[in-house]
Amino acid sequence: MLQMERYYAERVGHMQGSDIRDAFKLTEQPGIISFAGGFPAPESFPIPLIERLLAGMFKSDYSGLQYGPTEGLEDLRHEIALMMTAEGVACDAQNILITNGSQQALDLICKVFLDPGDIVLVEEPGYVGGLNAIGNYQGQKVGIPMDDEGLRIDIMANRLKEMASKGQRPKFIYTVSNFQNPTGVSLSVSRRRGLLDLAREYDFLILEDNPYGKISFGQETVPHIKTIDDEGRVIYLGSFSKILIPGVRIGWVVASKELIRQLTVAKQGTDLCSSSLGMKLVVESILSGELEAHVESLKVLYRRRRDVMLQALARYMPREVHWTRPQGGFFVWLRLPSYIDSKDMLPVAVAEEKVAYVSGQGFHVDGTGHNTIRLAYSQASEENIEEGIRRLASVIRRRLEVAM
Ligand SMILES: Cc1ncc(COP(=O)(O)O)c(C=O)c1O
Repeated sequence: MLQMERYYAERVGHMQGSDIRDAFKLTEQPGIISFAGGFPAPESFPIPLIERLLAGMFKSDYSGLQYGPTEGLEDLRHEIALMMTAEGVACDAQNILITNGSQQALDLICKVFLDPGDIVLVEEPGYVGGLNAIGNYQGQKVGIPMDDEGLRIDIMANRLKEMASKGQRPKFIYTVSNFQNPTGVSLSVSRRRGLLDLAREYDFLILEDNPYGKISFGQETVPHIKTIDDEGRVIYLGSFSKILIPGVRIGWVVASKELIRQLTVAKQGTDLCSSSLGMKLVVESILSGELEAHVESLKVLYRRRRDVMLQALARYMPREVHWTRPQGGFFVWLRLPSYIDSKDMLPVAVAEEKVAYVSGQGFHVDGTGHNTIRLAYSQASEENIEEGIRRLASVIRRRLEVAM
């Protein structure tokens, strides 16, 4: 048999599979309480709405069955532009590109902006799918640490100064501004302004990825970074995966018309267009008014799960363990004492206590994070969250005792 590797492009050497996706094979087994997969709760999928919309979709037109424009169906782009404008990002349909989830948008943006070796600032820890997209185009990732208010802008300012002294400048920063994957943390309003100031001073772009923003548990609304951007420096990504269904694979980009045109050219060579059926389903769900109501029900569901997880953590975890308190989204981030390696502990947790999580190391670009854990509360029932945290705490407690 031919050895295919001999024919691969050089860039393949920079491509990384997701450790986390591989770990799911270990963790998603019957009888195991898993906090590993950050998928939406399947019981939240609005099946009757989807059935009804699909049944009615082909009565008057066939656009859901035909190839569509690469930019996306005009009526969906228009509805997204209205939604973004209502959220403080004034735009029209020409500022919107429909993509196959925001993951494709990440790929297209890296394809358009990155030459091998270009520097990209990333959150430390950051979303693995974004980190891998940057790696696929041979971007050089520089991690910026986070705390409970998101990116440490002060540390970032120092890094940028150092880079500038060596004649270096990042192309862009990739940030998940709300209820970040993996930490659940949001970038504070003052830091959003600070980030934009730095981007202007050092002349780089901001890639704002916001798939969880609408699943907010509080009343407070925080402006998008794009809302306070008056020169088109921020490229905004949204997705219907977490608020409708991920199977529809529909996301969007908001950017200048010029950039949307360039991304469209890049997308033409990738897939011609996103699924017309998916786009039609999404636009009908918006026009029916039911998507908005559905999102309200999701907030209630995930908020309850978040509450149960935080209460269980407070009840069971030893005091050496620290965690974030997300105000939305799917994730809680745990920090264990530095002498515990969460990757080594995972097979033990699965075998002995039948509980699973994602070890945090894979979200880091500097090789740290061995003592961190991502827990998703999105998929487990309230009873399982309580029981799973009790089990996880007993695994951790045993490790602490061994180390004493
Ligand atoms: C931060 C972040 N960005 C992007 C994505 C990709 O989502 P999709 O392609 O389904 O829109 C995810 C998925 O989990 C995510 O967590």
